[in-house]
Amino acid sequence: MNNKIVVKVYPTKEEAAKEIAAEIAALIRARAAEGREAVLGLATGSTPVVLYKELIRLHKEEGLSFKNVTTFNLDEYYGLDGTHDQSYRYFMNSELFDHVDIDKEKTHVPDGTVPPDRVTEMCEKYDADIKAAGGIDIQILGIGRTGHIGFNEPPCGPETRTHQVKLNDLTIKDNARLFFHGKIEEVPTSAVTMGVGTILDSRKIVLLAWGEGKADIIYKSLMEPPTEKCPASWLQKHGNCVFAVDADAASKL
Ligand code: F6R
Repeated sequence: MNNKIVVKVYPTKEEAAKEIAAEIAALIRARAAEGREAVLGLATGSTPVVLYKELIRLHKEEGLSFKNVTTFNLDEYYGLDGTHDQSYRYFMNSELFDHVDIDKEKTHVPDGTVPPDRVTEMCEKYDADIKAAGGIDIQILGIGRTGHIGFNEPPCGPETRTHQVKLNDLTIKDNARLFFHGKIEEVPTSAVTMGVGTILDSRKIVLLAWGEGKADIIYKSLMEPPTEKCPASWLQKHGNCVFAVDADAASKL
């Protein structure tokens, strides 16, 4: 069997978040003891909020410092700047960075405001910056109902690097339902995202999924052979990937 993904099913998302946050905290502390940076790959959307809450609790109640942490986010809407309340930069500041002692200069989110003729250059620099930081130690992912990771919509091969993408109609609909005050016309139609190849370069990958709405795509990502039709299925090729799911997201397995 070529599928190397480890599946961990938790009774609740809170329990999953607690265990993953503890693993991240251990990494941060081990690196701090060596005088080194911990490099985290982060996601936005509704799924990781519970994880960020637990990381904030660890900072406030258990003295976890983020001073030696560098972060790279997966993606950003094209056309939104960081002060827009639906931008992913704004989300990361308000859900995590503003509540811990991280140096914001070391938090990276793709720039959604560069002019069209500079997007490629910005994307190449993003990949180069990840390399220069020593690569991503732990990449956190959510998953879209289209099978997207980051904003890599199907069809998508395993080798793409950071690039601009058009968003899928289902993704635009899902995002309007959860964000953009429900207004579909306000959801940008494209985004800049780390590629699947960029994600696969991470030393460890943890994909989170909660709720019945993710059960079908979790099943497809794990049980069907890797295919361009389901970008998350390429994770089967990574040697150190965990799917941390709650009982509802695991219900079709
Ligand atoms: C966000 C991202 C997306 C989301 C996915 C799931 O940075 O990369 O792939 O993880 O759309 O979104 P939620 O968590 O809102 O269901």
